[in-house]
Amino acid sequence: MERLVINGGYKLRGVVEIAGAKNAAVAILPAAILASEGKSIIDNIPDIEDVHCLERILKGLGCTVNKIDNNTLEIDSSDMNTVEACTADVRAMRASYYFIGAMLSRFKRAKVDLPGGCPIGVRPIDQHIKGFEAMGAEVIIEHGAVNIKADRLVGANIFFDVVSVGATINVMIAATMAEGVTVLENVAKEPHVVDVANFLNSMGADIKGAGTDIIRIRGVESMKGHNYSVIPDQIEAGTFMIAAAATKGDITITNVIPKHLESITAKLLEMGAIIEEGDDSIRVAVDKPLRGVSIKTAPYPGFPTDVQQPMSTLLCVADGRSMITETIWESRLKHLDELKKMGASVKVEGRVAVLEGVSKLTGAIVKATDLRAGAAMVIAGLVAEGKTEICSIEHIDRGYPHIETKFRELGADIYRIQEE
Ligand code: EPU
Repeated sequence: MERLVINGGYKLRGVVEIAGAKNAAVAILPAAILASEGKSIIDNIPDIEDVHCLERILKGLGCTVNKIDNNTLEIDSSDMNTVEACTADVRAMRASYYFIGAMLSRFKRAKVDLPGGCPIGVRPIDQHIKGFEAMGAEVIIEHGAVNIKADRLVGANIFFDVVSVGATINVMIAATMAEGVTVLENVAKEPHVVDVANFLNSMGADIKGAGTDIIRIRGVESMKGHNYSVIPDQIEAGTFMIAAAATKGDITITNVIPKHLESITAKLLEMGAIIEEGDDSIRVAVDKPLRGVSIKTAPYPGFPTDVQQPMSTLLCVADGRSMITETIWESRLKHLDELKKMGASVKVEGRVAVLEGVSKLTGAIVKATDLRAGAAMVIAGLVAEGKTEICSIEHIDRGYPHIETKFRELGADIYRIQEE
């Protein structure tokens, strides 16, 4: 086991390049198995543990996976030889559920262990199943696995009960090779939903409307491998924007799509930060105390739940009172107990937290309770007086590539140690 150690108090300065989007890459890699011929070379893939997990799952399914470099994979799924994905890797991560949609589309059957993922609340997959069943699939959940099969997979009209990133992407993947037209309504509009649709279209799918409220998919007979570049990670970018603001630094973040960051930019401007947008970069600087604000998480284009936790650290040290309302996940405020160990003044009632800004945080031994909670603790360590040690950093490694190297290059005193 490893820990991150941070000696706080340094203002971040310089330039940091953002990696490819985790939540796009983790859907695109399973979707690559839709190709019955040709190879896909996918670049701008983040070098994170969730991707390494998917590489192992793909190999276990009989795909040939060549690592061209740390951010580029070549995948050949033409000789895939099983529709069973029941391994510890599958159970360890969330996005392994995309293999259900992908195998159902290509082979009309699959057996995939139920997914894992961050402990941020109940994470049902009823909307995924509702979509698959509407297309004619029979789904049985037994012994911790999803068993699914369809004699014929036929396009359907599906209105999701909740806006779900995972269900939107999974059912869209499944529909690519269903007979006829599938119409998905009340869908998620996140940039990664659009990115996955673009990848699928590059492979030969016929998908229209991704990024709007209605997605129409006309089923095609077969799909081929294609080269593709994953979009930049809006959540990693948001994390660095907030870290720059929290340390009262001045950094330029490159390889971003500023439009995807608008909800975060708007909040930082409201707090008093300086933001300059370039074509594919964004500068964040702070030269005066920041004001507390209220944030309420919402599906895109609202404030992303995945940035709520990093943002909460900034709000802990902003002037006055701030409020957080987490609407997506019922237990995504656990990290606030860790921040309290560092001097934060926080009251939590259900999914709402009220934070009274404090003049400083102080270093402590704290835990990354989940992935984005880990990022929140890193930012806390960067601003705190003295030394912070963060345990359970395997959560952070699942989703942030080389986090300590990137912050060190911006002037932070942060390093990794082996736990005794
Ligand atoms: N939901 C249902 N039924 C379903 C699916 C979802 O009720 O069948 C509910 C969930 O319980 C939740 C809401 O709908 O309350 C939204 O869940 P969604 O399906 O959108 O989440 P997800 O697909 O499981 C992805 C990201 C999460 C991110 C959410 C919301 C991946 C692998 N994970 O999860 O990312 O928080 O969308 O944007 O794409 C992270 O990166 O740290 C992370 C947790």
